[in-house]
Amino acid sequence: MKILAIETSCDETAVSILECSGDAHMPSCAVLGTGLYSQASKHAEFGGVFPNLAKREHQLNLTSMLKIALKESGLSTKHQAPDSKQIQNFQTMQEILEREETLFKNLQEYLSKNPNNPGFDAIAVTQGPGLEPALWVGINFAKALSFFWNIPLVPVNHMEGHILSVLSDRKENSNDQITNNKIAFPAIALLVSGGHTELDLVHDWGTYELIGQTRDDAVGEAFDKVARLLGLPYPGGPEISRLAAEARNPKSEIRNTIHLPRPMIDSNDFDFSFAGLKTAVLYAVKKLGSLSDEQKKEIACEFENAAVEVLVSKTKKALEHYNAPTLIIGGGVVANTHLREEMKKMLAQEFPDVTLLLPTHELSTDNAVMIGIAGYIAYTKNPNEYGVFSPEHGDLRAHGTLRLSS
Ligand code: KG4
Ligand code: ZN
Repeated sequence: MKILAIETSCDETAVSILECSGDAHMPSCAVLGTGLYSQASKHAEFGGVFPNLAKREHQLNLTSMLKIALKESGLSTKHQAPDSKQIQNFQTMQEILEREETLFKNLQEYLSKNPNNPGFDAIAVTQGPGLEPALWVGINFAKALSFFWNIPLVPVNHMEGHILSVLSDRKENSNDQITNNKIAFPAIALLVSGGHTELDLVHDWGTYELIGQTRDDAVGEAFDKVARLLGLPYPGGPEISRLAAEARNPKSEIRNTIHLPRPMIDSNDFDFSFAGLKTAVLYAVKKLGSLSDEQKKEIACEFENAAVEVLVSKTKKALEHYNAPTLIIGGGVVANTHLREEMKKMLAQEFPDVTLLLPTHELSTDNAVMIGIAGYIAYTKNPNEYGVFSPEHGDLRAHGTLRLSS
């Protein structure tokens, strides 16, 4: 079945079109087309994501991303005038998008020339967690299209999307294992993003049990805050990672004089804490005064070492405790090469039989492909649960703090 997937939980405006088949346990999804616009450079001057700017940018760009995804997928329909019912439906669509005037204008302009459903069987959209003003734009866009094209609407949890990002068949040139083969459950899922750091026990797709989480900052947030302390631009994760790699280069003369804590590394649970690590960097920076490029690299490297050591150690503990045959890592921070390498090293030494599932680099950060996969699985499991959106009975709301486990 063909899924139109929409993701607007943070600062990526993403639309993807997927062709999925197979049952909910062994889904297979091909990506037919993607339109993805990163707002990161717009938010950079604020040093982080500014919710109202994110909302405005999603409104401006969603229709263009839909057009790009349709073009890439070859699903664009021939230009045609809407019939009288479709013209009438524009009015309801305007009500659905009453708070998104710009979006309504762009979408109506597109649908006036291309009114018919290009072949979608369902629409998947991120319901949460994320920034509510940003989430609402995607949700209302999805509601409008569900209504206009008369196809079911499937709300998706963004964090479940990150877990399922490992199932895409969109491969890249890396040795990372991407598979659609049957997965042995239970799996341990380590989710590391800008808003979340948690360990979940995955009993099956759709059935998750939270076993540990951060008590303060998320690890991606810590990367971003430390980057800011070092005067690096937002988003900080890739910047820290780049400096750390330079410091780790055997030819580098950078010495190891700064030592940062590994918070909660020995605690008897699966929880994390990264606020203290960030504060330790703040003290180190204050003590040093103005930083040389060498000192920045040294701090970035020691910070990355500390964060990754904690993540690897807690994941190891969880694999041991639950005797899990599969490890999944998802979320923006899994784009971090050092984390990937250290996790693989730990598995090779301690759990050579555990299967590691990682998303491609492209699908590590926010995207709509993962939302489409999650939508397909949810729909396949319970098709009767999802209907076409109508303003009379629809009550789908954005949920900024939506949780994964019930
Ligand atoms: O999943 P994601 O795209 O958005 C959220 O759902 O939060 O994750 C974004 C986070 C940001 O904090 C960003 O700095 C971090 O992922 N990130 C990285 C890297 N690339 C992105 N952190 C460390 N190393 C990276 N290479
Ligand atoms: Zn995310």
